[in-house]
Order: sequence, then structure tokens, then C-alpha cells
Amino acid sequence: MYKIRKAEKLAENIFLMDVEAPRIAKSCEPGQFLIVKMDEKGERIPLTICDYHREDGTVTIVFQIVGASTKKMAELQAGDSFRDVIGPLGQASEFIHEPAAELKEKKYLFVAGGVGTAPVYPQVKWMKENGIAVDVIVGAKTKDLLILEDEMRAVAGNLYITTDDGSYERKGMVTEVIKDLVQNQGKHYDQVVAIGPMIMMKFVCLLTKELGLPTIVSLNPIMVDGTGMCGACRVTVGDQVKFACVDGPEFDGHLVNFDEAMKRQTIYKTQEGRAMLKLQE
Ligand code: NAD
Ligand code: FES
Repeated sequence: MYKIRKAEKLAENIFLMDVEAPRIAKSCEPGQFLIVKMDEKGERIPLTICDYHREDGTVTIVFQIVGASTKKMAELQAGDSFRDVIGPLGQASEFIHEPAAELKEKKYLFVAGGVGTAPVYPQVKWMKENGIAVDVIVGAKTKDLLILEDEMRAVAGNLYITTDDGSYERKGMVTEVIKDLVQNQGKHYDQVVAIGPMIMMKFVCLLTKELGLPTIVSLNPIMVDGTGMCGACRVTVGDQVKFACVDGPEFDGHLVNFDEAMKRQTIYKTQEGRAMLKLQE
């Protein structure tokens, strides 16, 4: 059993939990994910690791209610336990393997959208711990849906917050901020990392391709069981077929076929909808 040490509501339908999982906390790296199972018959839910405390033996997960299982999960409190927490899974972010001297020469821009702020946080924190100041854009639909602002402020070199409706800081989507930084402020980036909803990653990649900025994306949203068995996360990357949960979750965004991946995502949305209706019966 894996005890929940802290359970907190961050925003409408978005929750944070600190979970005791010492083995995962000891070895996980930014970019990796884990799977939680509430009980023996429960669905396997893949979630990116938002933070880890190696000495404390805990990992932090952030999730949004998207279906019946995550709705049930949101009801859990501190002191409750998960039946299983499996991980760390997937490949760590590539930059952790780069020689420190080369990394320090590079200019990084992290782009986080909505709940995608959670997986971006450990990457920016890792950069800060390694003496690298990075620029970070965080986009949210509205002020009330902005998460992890203080945490991100503490680790980002420069933080640019934008809301779609202009209720806080800048107004507009993350792509507007990228354009402003590069085209108006003359900033240059060697690497962009964009994590958020699929549609955001698609449009960030269309823009960064035009601007000539290499871009990494994280395809967690298309995972279903996270084990390499269900095939739901199959994605075409360049001329190759990859599995997001095994080969990724991070890929070269300019090579990802987003339209194909999003089409497959909608098939599972219908199944999630049916499960939600069953839960309400
Ligand atoms: P959202 O719809 O509120 O969007 C967040 C931000 O993304 C917006 O504020 C905007 O700045 C940007 N954005 C959205 N559409 C855009 C477009 N067409 N062009 C440019 N920018 C755009 O996000 P949300 O509701 O928090 O997102 C939930 C989604 O995030 C879920 O589908 C979930 O699967 C996904 N998610 C992804 C990851 C990942 O690893 N990629 C991790 C956690 C959650
Ligand atoms: Fe099922 Fe990757 S999520 S194969």
C-alpha cells in the first residue's frame, strides 16, 4: 500500500497529492511518469511525476478529473492509500544526460499549458539545481485555473504568465508570448520544451518550426494503460511508429503527427464519458 501524505485541491477539478513511494522517489528523473491503481480491480492511471523528495521517500502527482477513475481518485484524503504505485516509467528528459558544460551554453524556453505545468515543474527545478536559469511561459485559461505559480517562480529564471481571458498578467495564449519574446524582444532559444494539451503542443510546434526553434513535446495525454500493451499511445514520429509510454513520453515535436494522435485520443474520450455516466447512475 502507498499512503497519501497530503491531498490538496489546486483549482477546479485539479488535485495534488504527495504519496509515499520511496523506491520511485529514489530513482525517478524529470520527464518520467508513474502508474497508480486505487484498488485491485481499479484502472491503471498513468500520471507524470510533478516532484520528488528522495530523503522523504515521497513523490508528488497532479491530476485533473477527466473520467470516472480520476473522479474517484479525487475523493481520496491524506491517510488513505493507493493499492499500487508503479514506476518510474518512460524515458527521462534528454537534457539530464547532456554534459553540464554544453547544457550551460544552451538557452532553454519551457512552455507549460494548464495541467501541463505539473510535468514542466520538475524539469525547471532540475535546471535550477544544476545552475541553469531558464525562461518559462505558463498559460492558463483563467486566473483560477493557474497552478503551481509560487513553485514555478522559485525555480524559473524568467517567468511569463499568460491567461486566455486576461484575468491575470498577460492576455492571450502561450503562442502569443513565444512570438513576443522571439520577434519583439529579440530573444533566442536553442531548445523549446512544450508540455500541455495536445492542441497547444500542436500549435506551439507549428510556430516554433516557422521560427526555427527545436521543440520537445510530452505525449502523456494519449496514454491509457502506460504499459506498452494497449497500443493507445501509438504515434507517428517522422517515418517511425513509436509508443509514447515506452519510447517517450518526450519526442521531437516537429516530427510528431499530432492530428493522428488527437484522433485516437477522441476514441478513448467516448469510453471515459460512458464510464462517467455509469458512475452517476
Ligand atoms: P487548457 O485547455 O486550459 O490550455 C492551457 C493553455 O494552453 C492555454 O491557456 C493556452 O495558453 C494554451 N493553448 C490551448 N490551446 C491552444 C492553442 N490552440 N494554441 C495555442 N495555445 C493553446 O489546458 P488544460 O485544460 O489544463 O489541459 C488539460 C490537458 O492537458 C489534458 O488534455 C491533459 O491530457 C493535458 N496534460 C498534458 C500533459 C503532458 O505531459 N503533455 C500533462 C498533464 C496534462
Ligand atoms: Fe498503452 Fe502506451 S499507453 S501502449
